[in-house]
Formats: sequence, C-alpha cells, structure tokens
Amino acid sequence: MCGIIGYAGPREPVGVVSEALSRLEYRGYDSSGVAFFGREGSLTVVRASGKLSRLTEALQGTTGLPGTAIGHIRWATHGAPTEENAHPHRSGPIVLVHNGIIENEHALRQELIGEGVVFSSETDTEVLAHRIHRAFREEGNLPAAVRKGLAGVEGSYALAVLCEERPGQLVVLRKGAPLILGEAEGEYFAASDVPAFLKWTRRVMPLPPEVLATLSPEGLSLCRLGDGEPVPAVFEEVPWDPVQAEKGHYRHFMEKEIYEGPRAIIDTLEGRLAEENSRVILPELVRLGPNPTEIVFVACGTSYHAALLGRLMIESFSSISVRVEIASEFRYRPLRARKGAWVIGISQSGETADTLGALELARKEGYLTVGVTNVGGSSITRETEATLLTRAGPEIGVASTKAFVAQVTLVWLLALYFGRRESPEVRKSLAALVRSPTRLEAFLGSVDPNAVDRMARQVLEARFVIFIGRGIDYPLAIEGALKLKEITYRPADGYPGGELKHGPIALVESGVLVVAPLVDPLLRLKEISNIREIEARGGTVLTIGPAGDAIEPLPSFPLPASEGWDGVFLASAVLQLLAYRAASMAGNDVDQPRNLAKSVTVE
Ligand code: M6R
Repeated sequence: MCGIIGYAGPREPVGVVSEALSRLEYRGYDSSGVAFFGREGSLTVVRASGKLSRLTEALQGTTGLPGTAIGHIRWATHGAPTEENAHPHRSGPIVLVHNGIIENEHALRQELIGEGVVFSSETDTEVLAHRIHRAFREEGNLPAAVRKGLAGVEGSYALAVLCEERPGQLVVLRKGAPLILGEAEGEYFAASDVPAFLKWTRRVMPLPPEVLATLSPEGLSLCRLGDGEPVPAVFEEVPWDPVQAEKGHYRHFMEKEIYEGPRAIIDTLEGRLAEENSRVILPELVRLGPNPTEIVFVACGTSYHAALLGRLMIESFSSISVRVEIASEFRYRPLRARKGAWVIGISQSGETADTLGALELARKEGYLTVGVTNVGGSSITRETEATLLTRAGPEIGVASTKAFVAQVTLVWLLALYFGRRESPEVRKSLAALVRSPTRLEAFLGSVDPNAVDRMARQVLEARFVIFIGRGIDYPLAIEGALKLKEITYRPADGYPGGELKHGPIALVESGVLVVAPLVDPLLRLKEISNIREIEARGGTVLTIGPAGDAIEPLPSFPLPASEGWDGVFLASAVLQLLAYRAASMAGNDVDQPRNLAKSVTVE
C-alpha cells in the first residue's frame, strides 16, 4: 500500500531509487515519482501517473548528483491517481514521500489554508510538506523541523524527507506504517520493504515507531520523535537471498513463487523438528507458559484461509477449541474468548492494518497474542508477545502463493505441537509433514502444463466459476476462488460443498463451471455426492484430487495419493497454477492485478 525508498550514498541516485521502486511495485502501481539533486544542485521532482514504466520513460537519460534521493510508488487513498497527486510532494525547499493515512488531514489542511497556503494536490500528504516547511523556517534544522511539523499529526505514516537547503541529509521516520533501514559500506537505504535494497545490502534494521533517522553518506543517527533522545542503531543480516527477489527465468514472480513452495516448507520447518524429526519444538512459544485454553486466529485474505486450515488441523490433534475471525470484522466486536486464550494473527507482510488492529484489541483485553508472519521485524513482531516466522522468503507477486504454503506448514506444526506426541496419528502426520516438501517438489516437476492450460481455458470460457469443498477442501476452495478473482477478474466464489443446495446451486446451469478440490479423505464421499448434485443439473465440474479411489471417472486433474494433509499443498499448487495460467492467457498483469496492493496498511 504505497512504497517508499530513500537513499544516501555515493551512487548515482536516480538509478538506485528507480531500481528500488521496481522492487516495491507490488505495493502500489497507480503513480510514482522521485526526487533527487540535479546536476546544478537543485532538488528536482519527476512524477508520472500510471505504472512505473511511465516514470521510467520520463526519467530516460536523467541522472542526479550522488548524495540523497527519495522515491515513491502509490496506491491511491486520498485523491485520484493523477500526476498532481503523485508523490513526492513539495513545499518550498521541503520534498517528501509518504506511505499511510493522515487522519486529521481535513483540520490540518483548513489551518494551513487559513495561513494562506495554496495546495496543489488532493492528497493528505501535502499537509505534511507544508507543516514541515513552516517548521523548517522556524527551526532552520531539518530533523527538528520534521519533529515539530509532525506534532499534532494523527494517523499512520512512513516518511522520507529531503530539503533543498540541506542536500546531504535525508530524514525518515514511521508510525504505524513499515520502514526498514539498510546499511552498506558508506551508504544507507530506507524502504517500505527489504527487497527494495536487497541487491545492495542484507544488513537491515526495522526502524522502531516514532524514531527519527537522519541518513547521510557520512553516517546515520537516530532519535526519539517526542523528546529527541538518541536511540542506538542495531543492524542485523537478513537471511534472504537477493536472487529470491528476482524473477530469474520465470515470466512472472507469481509463477516463480509457486515453484518455490517446497523451499518455503523446508525453510519453515528448519530448526523446529527435534529428536530425528519425531518432535516439534517451537521455542518461541515456551515463554508464553501453559498451552492456551482456546485459540482465536485473526487474519485477512489468504492468511485467513490458512487460519481456517489451522483450525481443522489443531482441533484434530488436541482438545483446544479454535476460532477463526476475519480481522476487519473481529476488531469491532467484543472478543469474549476464554480466560487463557491466545489470539494468533497470521499475516504474510506483518503489516496488515486490520490484523494489527485485531491483535491490539486482544492485547488490551488481556489476552496473549502471537504473530505468524513472513517478515522478520515487521509491525506484528513488535506488537505481539511471540512471533512464529514463516520462511517463504520475499513474496513479490500480489497473489499470495508460497507464503500460503509456508503458513499452512506453520499451522500444521502448531497442530502437532499441541497434539499428544505419543499418539500414532500425530506421529504419522509429522512424518507426512517432513516428507511433504519432497513430494510437492516432485509433483510440481511432473505437472503437465497442457493439462493446466486446458482447465484454464474452461475457466476463461465460463460465465461464473464456483469453487466448492468440505473439510480441508473448503479453505482450499475459497482460496482457489480468491486467487482466480484477484488476477483474472472473472466472477468466482467459493462455498462449502454441503451449503450449495441451500442457495448457490440455483446458479448452476450451462456456462457455469464448478471446481472441486477433493483432498479431504474423511469427507470425500460426501463431496462426491455434492458433485453428482451439480452434474444432475447440467453443471460442469472440474475435480482436483487423488486418482484411483472412489471417484469415477478419474479426477479432471489427478493428484498423487495424499499423505496426511500434504494434499493441501498439492491441490493448492494446482489452484494457484490454474489462476496463474488463466490470468496469463487473459493477458492480465499477473503480478500487479488492478486495484490491489500487496500489503494493506490502511483499514
Ligand atoms: O500480508 P497479509 O497476509 O496480512 O495480507 C492479507 C491479504 O491482504 C492477502 O492475503 C491477500 O488476500 C492476497 N493478495 C491474496 O492473494
């Protein structure tokens, strides 16, 4: 939801900032812009509406002076995605980029208008530029001006600020929106996400909230926003490989990330299995004390679907009752969980505003909170009592694929962790989990692209696609529908198979396609009955399931027989590939679907 980048160092900055923006493009792609010191020393702003390629064209052959520069990629909230509303925004010598929302923008704007300020955009961001400009005139010092300009500002922000009169300084800070610092030899970066600068450094520091950092090619200093007290800088090396943030030989990040599913499982299991893979250890949870009396998962989108699978898995092996809540709904209801319940937020980015809001509510009500996230140092890691990292590596495609696989791995681990170790079912399931990356890898290697394309064509020809499933196939069905909707823009929905005859079956007629994952061994026969009901009404059904059992004829897309829950990985890979191929055939921008952004940092 908007991406920002700031650079201070000896490189030619327009190239650095443009390249960093190309790695943040998944966060927004309505408009973009950069600011840098031009050859004659003045602070130059170049902006363009539309995709980043428009800015790249506008910048052809442009270079800036080594030193400081900033860039922005926008996902519009206040004001249409026009060039005027694109960042950076300027007021006098102050030029800045912003990710977030200023909630008291109206009052601040009126105050500035009363002082004679003329606005040139409809954005909430512009008030910040004018306020910091006003403060700079009073203070004559950029960090002090930023601190003063932000006093009384409500909302969330990550900001990078330059001043024409202070060419060697870049001031950045955040509150409620992510910002990560990067450090290399004689240069510093600040960005909404690590992949922006991963090419240049792996030494990172998530900037704590309300801490102001002043970056220059000579060094870095941090102080608290409120009282200016110094704060130490502590950088750590992230294990992410820069190659993970590149497309390699794949056409799209989404395709590459689907094929990285096995690696995501292996890395998420790393260090979490003991005694020759016979026991799950989650040291992160030990200090929370006894096991929870109840678990409440809160999440959005794909992460919510992983939580639904988590509920089924945990309830299979333990007596802990599990609730799953859509974070944006949950945060405005009374929580009413049992004493001793844990509230577990699942979020790939660790920055989803609704999930963070739900966890904040839980914490205020005295519950222990746990974050499951793919991004170390993200807000969720700071705002929960314990963090369980999924280790899918950077996920760039807006449609979540390998991160979902890693989340399923993690909730499966949780189920085994809470289950009775001596139970033969738990042991069997653990063995299946350990084998699952190898089996997924082999399966992905054997997928016939023509078979996927045949299904993708059927999907594109259908007027409406209904995904159905029961048991573990239900979260898979709604995840399959979400994947298809978000990148093909085709009407699709997911329903529990048994619910169909309570309404949605009225939609079934020729031209409507039903897709049914069939990997839940317990409910397969019931699912097949639901399929028969559809076929009896003239509907076409595509099934994705293990070959060679009760299904006649063979599933449309046969899978190897499942071991434990690993059918979830196999079937979700097919559903992801199906959406991917259909979107590619439709000529859509797979990695940057319209209207979406990778992390939703506003409510
Ligand atoms: O970063 P999060 O996991 O919290 O994001 C939640 C959803 O926004 C995300 O899963 C979204 O639904 C994906 N685009 C789905 O592919």
